[in-house]
Formats: sequence, C-alpha cells, structure tokens
Amino acid sequence: MNYTEKLDQLLSSYQMHYQNLRSLHWNIKGNAFFELHLKYEELYTRTQVIIDDLAERILSIGETPSSQFSVYMKNSLISENPIITDGKNGVSYVLEAQRTLLGLEREILNLSGEADDEGTNALMSDLIREKEKTNWMFRAYLG
Ligand SMILES: [Fe+2]
Repeated sequence: MNYTEKLDQLLSSYQMHYQNLRSLHWNIKGNAFFELHLKYEELYTRTQVIIDDLAERILSIGETPSSQFSVYMKNSLISENPIITDGKNGVSYVLEAQRTLLGLEREILNLSGEADDEGTNALMSDLIREKEKTNWMFRAYLG
C-alpha cells in the first residue's frame, strides 16, 4: 500500500471512529454522563473536521477519497463498536482507537516525508501532536 492509499485508509478509519464516538455520546450512562456526553461531542465534532481535511488533502494530491461506508468498513483499521454505556470502557475505547490512528499517522508521516510531500507531512504532524496530548488526558482520566 503506498502512502496515498494509507491516507485513504486513515480516512476510512476516522469515519468508523466518528460513528463509534456518536454511539458513545448517545449511549453513555452513569455518574460521568454529563462530562463524557460533552467530551464525546467535542471529539466527534473535531473528528468531522479531520475527516474533511483528510479527504480534501487526498484530492489536493490528485487522488480520489473513498466516500462510501461499504468501503470504509472494508478498509478501516477500527471496527464498529457494540453499544458501550460504561464511561471507563468508552474512554478505554477512545484511547485504543487513538493509538491505532496514531500508528497509521506515523507511517504516513514517514512515507510522505520520503516523497517530499510536505503538506501531508505537516497534516500528519498536527494530528500526531494533538493525539499525543489527548492520549495523555485519557490515560489520566482512567487513573
Ligand atoms: Fe448530542
């Protein structure tokens, strides 16, 4: 898989992650309802922007981003979640999903660097830095 295909795989993975986040937002129950309901909303709202940035980056380098859920389901590194109501399980999912996304972003960072694609490289750097920070926060939340 070349790095533009990996970029499309990243898009697919974010689409699955987005829907998993909506599900967490809808189904959270218990003491942490108010904080996590809002946190999940913040995450899926940000994810929606990332999805658009990735698709438009793929277009900018002359490729066509996947836009069908059937393709996303096949290509995503993140699978569809069951319904999760427990706050800690939900945050554990987020942490795990972000580690998966981070792994792929680091691969694309290296490959786009070798290809002298600075725009994609910079986008990956931003996503990586952002996720390293939120991962710390989710680890702290889990104690
Ligand atoms: Fe809502």
